[in-house]
Amino acid sequence: MPSELSAYVSDPTPGRGALRPARSWLHSDAPSLSLNGAWRFRLSPTASVAQDFAAEEFDDHAWESIPVPSHWVLEGDGAHGRPIYTNIQFPFPIDPPHVPDENPTGDYRRHFALPADWSDAERIVLRFDGVESLFRVWVNGVDIGSAGGSRLAHEFDVTRAVRPGDNVVAVRVHQWSAASYVEDQDQWWLPGIFRDVTLTARPLGGIEDVWLRTGFHDGRGRVEAEITAEASAFPVTLRIPELGVEQVWATAADVAPVDAGEVEPWSAERPRLYDATVSTAAESIALRVGFRTVEIRGDRFLVNGRRVVFHGVNRHEAHPVRGRVFDEEHAREDLARMKRFNVNAIRTSHYPPHPRLLDLADELGFWVVLECDLETHGFEKLGWVGNPSDDPAWREAYLDRIRRTVERDKNHPSIVIWSLGNESGTGSNLAAMSAWVHARDAERPVHYEGDYTGEYTDVYSRMYASVPETERIGTDGTDTPLLNCTPAQSTRQRAKPFLLCEYAHAMGNGPGALDQYEALVHEHPRLHGGFVWEWRDHGILATAPDGTAYQAYGGDFGEVVHDGNFVMDGMLLSDDVPTPSLYEFKAVVQPVRFVFDGDKVAVTNLRHSADTSDLRFRWRVEHDGTPVDAGDLEVPVVAAGESGRVSLPPVPVAPEGETWLTIDAVLATAAPWAPQGHVVATVQSDRSPHIPVPAVRHRTGWRPDTGTLTLGAAEFVDGRLVSLAGRAVTGPRLELFRAPTDNDESPSDGVEESDASVPGVSNAELWRRDGLDRLTARRVSVELPHGKADALRTLDKVSAANSALFVMVESVWSLEAGELELRVEIEPSRGWSTVWPRIGIRFDLPDGGAPVDGAEWFGLGPSESYPDSLRAARTGRFSSGIDDLSVDYARPQETGHRSGLRRLTLTSTGAKVFRVEALPDTHGRRPGFTLSRHTPQELARAGHPYELPASTTSRLTIDAAQHGLGSRSCGPDVRPEFALRPEARTIRLRITAG
Ligand code: GAL
Repeated sequence: MPSELSAYVSDPTPGRGALRPARSWLHSDAPSLSLNGAWRFRLSPTASVAQDFAAEEFDDHAWESIPVPSHWVLEGDGAHGRPIYTNIQFPFPIDPPHVPDENPTGDYRRHFALPADWSDAERIVLRFDGVESLFRVWVNGVDIGSAGGSRLAHEFDVTRAVRPGDNVVAVRVHQWSAASYVEDQDQWWLPGIFRDVTLTARPLGGIEDVWLRTGFHDGRGRVEAEITAEASAFPVTLRIPELGVEQVWATAADVAPVDAGEVEPWSAERPRLYDATVSTAAESIALRVGFRTVEIRGDRFLVNGRRVVFHGVNRHEAHPVRGRVFDEEHAREDLARMKRFNVNAIRTSHYPPHPRLLDLADELGFWVVLECDLETHGFEKLGWVGNPSDDPAWREAYLDRIRRTVERDKNHPSIVIWSLGNESGTGSNLAAMSAWVHARDAERPVHYEGDYTGEYTDVYSRMYASVPETERIGTDGTDTPLLNCTPAQSTRQRAKPFLLCEYAHAMGNGPGALDQYEALVHEHPRLHGGFVWEWRDHGILATAPDGTAYQAYGGDFGEVVHDGNFVMDGMLLSDDVPTPSLYEFKAVVQPVRFVFDGDKVAVTNLRHSADTSDLRFRWRVEHDGTPVDAGDLEVPVVAAGESGRVSLPPVPVAPEGETWLTIDAVLATAAPWAPQGHVVATVQSDRSPHIPVPAVRHRTGWRPDTGTLTLGAAEFVDGRLVSLAGRAVTGPRLELFRAPTDNDESPSDGVEESDASVPGVSNAELWRRDGLDRLTARRVSVELPHGKADALRTLDKVSAANSALFVMVESVWSLEAGELELRVEIEPSRGWSTVWPRIGIRFDLPDGGAPVDGAEWFGLGPSESYPDSLRAARTGRFSSGIDDLSVDYARPQETGHRSGLRRLTLTSTGAKVFRVEALPDTHGRRPGFTLSRHTPQELARAGHPYELPASTTSRLTIDAAQHGLGSRSCGPDVRPEFALRPEARTIRLRITAG
């Protein structure tokens, strides 16, 4: 039996006593007092603890101190329990609406002095902006109420409980409650008072709430005000000084739409805001209004009459130290970073963020899909039986959640769509939420992905649809109904704008195919882009037993059930470092398209509405990566959706070697999110003359031989390479394995339209079954040519234990025009049946006192690239230390492959060690390289970077080919055209000393 003390913990209704209706989060000049700071704190293991602590006179001096806002599991070095990460699973028995007796419960207390001049306030209101997951509040021992809805604001009238001078507020917070069943988002469970606590004095004659709905039509702005105030508060005045608007309404009945005259519209690209105030004699509210009109016309989603394409990200509130506690400076920098990477939209997955974030979104410019705090994904396991979304007992909780969501944030021009929540099945409570939104805000459409058939939502949304499925949605083909839809429902869904609320799962190394999704958006106007899953990894900073700091994921805190590193799926690492996928995203969605045509280039402005007057165009020419000429390209201002054709400068062409012309579109002046000169878009054009590849000189007349041999920079003993340029080397050995990426490791069945996958079995598992990670070699022959010893040929048969499959590797070392050439012919036997991760050869370079610790190369860079993620890579000269060649993915995995290699110089503390020139194969394909401190096998064995062994050897792998990345960790596998099949390949290298 639940104790009487805690019975409310299992109550699905939204608590009692909180003020309704919910209001906007407003910037008011009414007095307020932040109750953030140090509170007294006690943690109990159950909810049924005596409530005597709420009494004023309770002695809390033995309690600890805890900061508010914070999560108690992240405070006190593990003394307050530990974070739990689950994706879909509930970390407690599924017994709704009950939760276990083991229910960590935090009691908080603090004193505050009520300012003397608050005595004439009409009401004193106590606001909580976020408490996970259920709390109860007392002031001076008076029971005030309770509330659930962790990421929602709750206000309480505490007027009758406070008094001048010293007061005590006591809050009891339960980690688990009925609310936990509807807050099953894929993230850490982080209890506590994690957002602001504020006391406000509501003045007599003040403004309870205001909503300025703005519109933009034919160059003019319009304001429709909704003012919630007592009749006695009037007159109310709306002022927008910059527009000369000063509108006084004598009574509520007089409030009418205002023509704001000619205005500049608000858009995510030009987030023009106008300062406004709404005031009575007693209170003034400051707002920043943006004029914009949202509408759906047919299957188009339009803002200010123009189609919007979302180049968005899913944004969680996550920080390695603070968890979901908001930090404005960090959030602003994070949003500025999004802008620098061409992100133009945010889905606030899967709950309203800190309210201030929307101010920043208005100001910096993002299209926002604002999502309610709702997810019941754990019921999927039960076939959705008992799902709160369709249970009348939960209806009020659902409605309370959406009301609090919409009311709090309704004033923001950045919010263009309301989302009911995430992965909560379907049911009448969701439909009721939608109906409420439609009645309250007729303008902004309602989104909910789980409404597959489009019963109650306005936009069609899917997550992780493959490229072909997305294309089918964009076209009118009726042969295959849409997912979970009848033909009639498919027709209904196709009549709506479509967006991918999640796509391109960015877990670990990946995703691939971003460019293929983007291409569809330009072909099929019904497709409005989408939101990459997700912006950042959610690692929690922890310390390994050996003292090394690392980003912890599920399981690192000894959780009973958890979902491992599935929470590390951002384009940004936990510590704010952009991964190569973010550069890829930036390149794929860049708002300017360039198409070369002889000595002209067509410049197309792909933006929503902004012209190119903020951009300057620069060109440069490089010969084999060395700059030879540069200048400005005069491009007339191009309006959104238009193109301009301009002449290119004369390009000096290198007689030998490669000539590349690069054009950058850069910011002409600094923006609030980037300095002047920041590169917004880039393109390259290959202007090289045809460069013949030296033909392979096929020799005949080999004879078996061993002994020592020197060929150019290489020395051999009994046919084995022992040194290069005087340094000890082992190898090259055939390397077919890569440390599986999270996508490679996923057995997910989301493999539609890929002929490369086996449903239910990960590629990595297939590779391990075939022994790709444990290949052994048998030397079949070592031969020298008859006559002059200027070449060496070896033949190896490479295979794995208990397998009859093999690969023949023929290596020919020779002197060609005085240079050492290595040609490796790799030929698989019949019978290999899966894709291969790579086809490469690996040289191991032992430390020998001065490790190989850097690379300079001419090829694609600067970041790693893979066949389905090549758009950010450009041809040029780059250099990097060995550690910066790898990305510190939270779980070590394949990283560091640089494609399109021409020339590579390995360095040791800055000194050149040897140089490798990569010759294209007969199809013109160039290899890539990876320089790493670890073997793929070592990487594959480590769960975290700190588990990697100390390295004494640098590893250089030259890959004829790599498999693509895909996003199968949650979504489609590598597209067939980027899948690497076992096939014969040639690698040809010219190697010279220093
Ligand atoms: C989606 C879900 C997200 C996240 C993602 C996988 O299904 O909506 O919250 O779990 O998958 O990382």
